[in-house]
Amino acid sequence: MTNPDRDALIARLPKAELHLHIEGSLEPELLFALAERNGVAIPFASVEEVRAAYSFSNLQDFLDIYYQGMSVLRTEQDFFDLTWAYLQRAAADNVRHVEIFFDPQGHTERGVAFETVLDGIERALKAGEAQLRISYRLIMCFLRHLSEEDAFATLDQAMPHLGRIHGVGLDSSELGHPPAKFARVFARARELGLFVTAHAGEEGPPEYVHEALDLLKVGRIDHGNRALEDPALVALLASEGMTLTVCPLSNLRLCVIHEIGESPVRRMLDLGLKATINSDDPAYFGGYINDNYRAVASALDLSGAELATLARNSFTGSLLPTAEQARHLAAISEALDGR
Ligand code: ADE
Ligand code: ZN
Repeated sequence: MTNPDRDALIARLPKAELHLHIEGSLEPELLFALAERNGVAIPFASVEEVRAAYSFSNLQDFLDIYYQGMSVLRTEQDFFDLTWAYLQRAAADNVRHVEIFFDPQGHTERGVAFETVLDGIERALKAGEAQLRISYRLIMCFLRHLSEEDAFATLDQAMPHLGRIHGVGLDSSELGHPPAKFARVFARARELGLFVTAHAGEEGPPEYVHEALDLLKVGRIDHGNRALEDPALVALLASEGMTLTVCPLSNLRLCVIHEIGESPVRRMLDLGLKATINSDDPAYFGGYINDNYRAVASALDLSGAELATLARNSFTGSLLPTAEQARHLAAISEALDGR
């Protein structure tokens, strides 16, 4: 398949995005506009200066800038504008379903009310459903560098809104903050009927992936790259049909891999793992979902069938009911046939 043919297929394949931090979709232009609107001082003189600062040597490097960036988000309208901008990008990439992460602790610790965050994001998601035909689920992440007690307090804040939040996740600094630290709060979330997922094996060792499965009892693994170091773990993930939400450009920009050709996507598919492609924090890592598909497809010479498998995995690994998944799978077959 030539690159233009492959790119055209990527563009027309319906996709779900399962690993997207909404705060990571804050483009420098909007960051500047919100800083001005809210009178927030930022240590950058121009959009170009902001982009130049987006050079990271590891996850923590990025997180320091990511938390600084989100400080311009103050009002319900800010969270609406942020989410709406992302949804328009997603629609342009033919994304039909999104499962969005948000980091309430990144906002409540700055004095922004939990409800301000939730209301703004949800209002945009509902507008996206009505106007862009993008369905959604919302996943609240706990920041793992903070305490278990803080995570419980965040879950308490979510209690009046459980009908609006579909799952919980675990993100932020992985090394030194193993899933075990959050076993009890995840157990409580599961009792409440919430879906659970966790970042594991991005920088952390395969043991963290084992803990996410055994102690948190996750329904997906976010990233999962380092699971490939442990053949028994690979066999387990494959036999359970566990979805891995891989983020190729994120991996490159955070030095999890050193060139895009090192992306584990092809190896994962060959090992029978249910890999998906996602953008993680597109404003910081240089690309939205189709950019991620194109980068790996070109570097790994992925076939049309492999690209369709990745798109199918994104729906079968989603929280959508089976009948809705089936509708999207049929649309993928049509896209593959060139219809
Ligand atoms: N928060 C936002 N993006 C993240 C990532 N890639 N890993 C961990 N925490 C994050
Ligand atoms: Zn992530």
